[in-house]
Amino acid sequence: FALALWVCATGDFDRTKNEIGSFYYGTFPTGFSWGAGSSAYQTEGAWDKEGKGMSIWDIFCHKKEKTSLNVTGDSSCEGYYKVKEDISLMKDMKLNHYSFSISWPRIIPSGIKSDKVNEKGIQHYDNLINFLLENRITPIVTLYHWDLPHALEDKYGGWQNSSMVNFFNDYTSLCFERFGNRVKYWITFNDPWSMAVEGYESGEHAPGLRLKGTGAYKAAHNIIKAHAAVWHTYDTQWRDTQKGMVGISLSTHWGEPVDIMNDMDIEAADRYMQFNLGWFATPLFNGDYPQVMKEYVGKKSTRQGLGDSRLPSFLPQEKSYIKGTCDFLGIGHFTTRYITEKNYPSSRSSSYFTDSDLAELVDPQWPNAGSEWLYSVPWGFRQLLNFVKSQYGNPMIYVTENGALEKMVCTDLCDEWRMLYLRDYINEILKAINDGVNVKGYTVWSLLDKFEWDEGYSERFGLYYVDFRSKNKTRYPKASVQYYKHIINSNGFPS
Ligand code: NOJ
Repeated sequence: FALALWVCATGDFDRTKNEIGSFYYGTFPTGFSWGAGSSAYQTEGAWDKEGKGMSIWDIFCHKKEKTSLNVTGDSSCEGYYKVKEDISLMKDMKLNHYSFSISWPRIIPSGIKSDKVNEKGIQHYDNLINFLLENRITPIVTLYHWDLPHALEDKYGGWQNSSMVNFFNDYTSLCFERFGNRVKYWITFNDPWSMAVEGYESGEHAPGLRLKGTGAYKAAHNIIKAHAAVWHTYDTQWRDTQKGMVGISLSTHWGEPVDIMNDMDIEAADRYMQFNLGWFATPLFNGDYPQVMKEYVGKKSTRQGLGDSRLPSFLPQEKSYIKGTCDFLGIGHFTTRYITEKNYPSSRSSSYFTDSDLAELVDPQWPNAGSEWLYSVPWGFRQLLNFVKSQYGNPMIYVTENGALEKMVCTDLCDEWRMLYLRDYINEILKAINDGVNVKGYTVWSLLDKFEWDEGYSERFGLYYVDFRSKNKTRYPKASVQYYKHIINSNGFPS
């Protein structure tokens, strides 16, 4: 044990032997917040009820062959009708926080605030927030988890259009106005990388556009500006009275160089991180896109064939407006990839977002945590958290998503693999805190099995199993509920 402690304390750890040898016994700092997460379109159902407008996901899923088995989120977990039941599950686990998202078209059906506010939608979130607080569970509220009002996509081209900045600012102001007396943690966007790349470049996600070359960059540019606008609105109009915080949630794999002694691999892995996390975090913390992105796809690119000015640039006044607009950083993280230059002979997959021009590999020995994309590589989390610390000046971090999945066909409630995954990933967070990373909370993804975007219901992330075939969408606890409860109760892993 003393040896293990020494190894951890020196920060010197062996990435191949993380399982038992380097387990760190200890507890989290007092006040560390334990929670679980969900998002509106993935769990609420009630897609066309009580005045809700259509979102791009409602439209997308109703088209053929957009999701696995052509399913939709029309009813999903019926979370809209089960607020009290679900909060009692959280209460039983003694969660400190619950992270959920507000559906923009549920409270503003057309997306434009001056058109009409749907009071029934407001009432729903009022109830949810009030009931959480009555049960001493802190709401962490995401303002946008991918369900853009369809009318805004239809009429304006969605995130391709810079007018989204004002529409989003108006919508979020309504949220601050109506809920901000009770909500103190606001997340503007969840996983903007997916919004931009999968929504507007690869087309796997709503709105399903394949605007090759420019779509993702343009969307991301508007998203970053929208985030900054909302942060400034909160800062100037609400912060003094409401005393809350506004952050963003970025989701990323960790990219580890294949050969940590090889400069080209080190450079490739860094590029992988910059084209993903850095794309959003660098402007928000440092005021501009990462240098390597500018070199590869920006105006001054010298790279033949790649440098065709696809990355928009910020004006000087925009840079200073955007810089410093994160009170905390949400991190979503599930797995790791080894990274090397493109054309590595044995690479299993290469990044479909090819601008970063590199190859991703997985180690066949990594335990599979449910699917071909999710391997359990706990040490990658510590690396990622330390990367965030060193790149962005040690910001306050909330882990907003982390968890394992099982496939639809699996009805085994004894989810041992999830317990192992949670144990090891949470343990790496503890090590990162000991490294000096400023992590304040952890959110397991997710409270319930739910709709998994293009994967439909084929991936189950829940601590609770949901029987989607039952009329009641009955919830059953998997074994990991008890395990997570135990971690919360012990505030970590006391020896
Ligand atoms: C990140 C997304 O934000 C979330 O909605 C999704 O369920 C998880 N990834 C798992 O794929």
